[in-house]
Amino acid sequence: MARKTTPPIEVDARDFPILGMPAQKFLDVYWQRHPLLIRNAFPDFESPITAEDLAGLACEDAALSRIVSRDSKRDTWQVRNGPFLEDEFPGMPRKDWTLLVQDVDKWDADVRALLYAFEFLPRWRMDDIMVSFAAPGGSVGAHIDNYDVFLLQGVGHRRWLIDTRPDPDHTYREDVPLRLLKHFAPNQDWVLNPGDMLYVPPGVPHHGIGVDACVTISVGLRAPSSAELIDELSGALIYDAPESIRYEDAGLKVPSDPYEIDDAALDRAVEAIHKLRLENRAQFAEWFGRVMSAYRVAANMAPDADSASGLDIVRSIAEGHVWIRHAYSRAAWTRQGKNAQLFVNGMAFSCSVRDASAIAAADYLDAVLVDALSDTGRAILQSLADAGHYLLEEDHE
Ligand code: SIN
Ligand code: CO
Repeated sequence: MARKTTPPIEVDARDFPILGMPAQKFLDVYWQRHPLLIRNAFPDFESPITAEDLAGLACEDAALSRIVSRDSKRDTWQVRNGPFLEDEFPGMPRKDWTLLVQDVDKWDADVRALLYAFEFLPRWRMDDIMVSFAAPGGSVGAHIDNYDVFLLQGVGHRRWLIDTRPDPDHTYREDVPLRLLKHFAPNQDWVLNPGDMLYVPPGVPHHGIGVDACVTISVGLRAPSSAELIDELSGALIYDAPESIRYEDAGLKVPSDPYEIDDAALDRAVEAIHKLRLENRAQFAEWFGRVMSAYRVAANMAPDADSASGLDIVRSIAEGHVWIRHAYSRAAWTRQGKNAQLFVNGMAFSCSVRDASAIAAADYLDAVLVDALSDTGRAILQSLADAGHYLLEEDHE
């Protein structure tokens, strides 16, 4: 019997950044299946963010930050949520704590620029870049995530322990304020240097510990769970459910027992459910595009019309101004026959494939981009600007 072989768990990418192999090979072999340590994923890496920058961010009201500390003698853990005060940091202990800030890509353009290196993945699968600072010994403990993550070492050194065996124990400790595995039996142990990156697929137990004072950059992906999909779908279905689609049983056979729900009845029920927009590909695509482009954008952070400038964006760009996309603006597009549908934070626009592709990819709007758009594409830019999705670069700085 052919035995399943496990692919190498470590590569050096110095000559082949960032994966050490062609992107398609990584996707075929490792993606969502196997962890991979990529030495020199970013050769001679200079972190776009320092521990000081991170501490500064953790003091912002709107940033999502936490400090996790551990009393190593008693093995007790404490979690405090930000925002923090700047003068708290100098007094922090020398070891055994970590500061974590989510959505750093939304706050820091240099951190956001790292995402270009991950364009081998659909952008709409990207969630956020979380950055952590760990004092020596600092960690969030051994845990399992439901999502893929790329853990890029930014500054200093972090030790990563992982357990690659199938079906790891998912029991969590009940005596701590965070999700810590009760039993963790790592079979890999590495120290990552700046520029090294560890890819961890969903479900793999992992534990990162600061060797020295270090900064780790986590590029995190998200995929909606079945509960989230059903929740979204049911809302959309109820909103425009056609009365004409219902359980139907033309051609019914006389039942041998009138109380029995037989196989044929179950098939008809499944059919009725499938007809609910799942069968209409265009409607389904529109629903999925709206959902994924709005996915996990917190309402209070989303662009809104009140912050729009009201300016004519095409004219402003022709006058030489550059507009920048709002950090919480998420775009994706689908094909609709020869044309496309562009989705931005739950809104849908019909346009050409060229317009959809150009607008979805544009973090900056300048004359080159606008010249390449059709009139419809330009009208979409104006609608997006009016909804607060673009900011004049000088206002932004
Ligand atoms: C960390 O950066 O401390 C934790 C990241 C993770 O384990 O997912
Ligand atoms: Co994790």
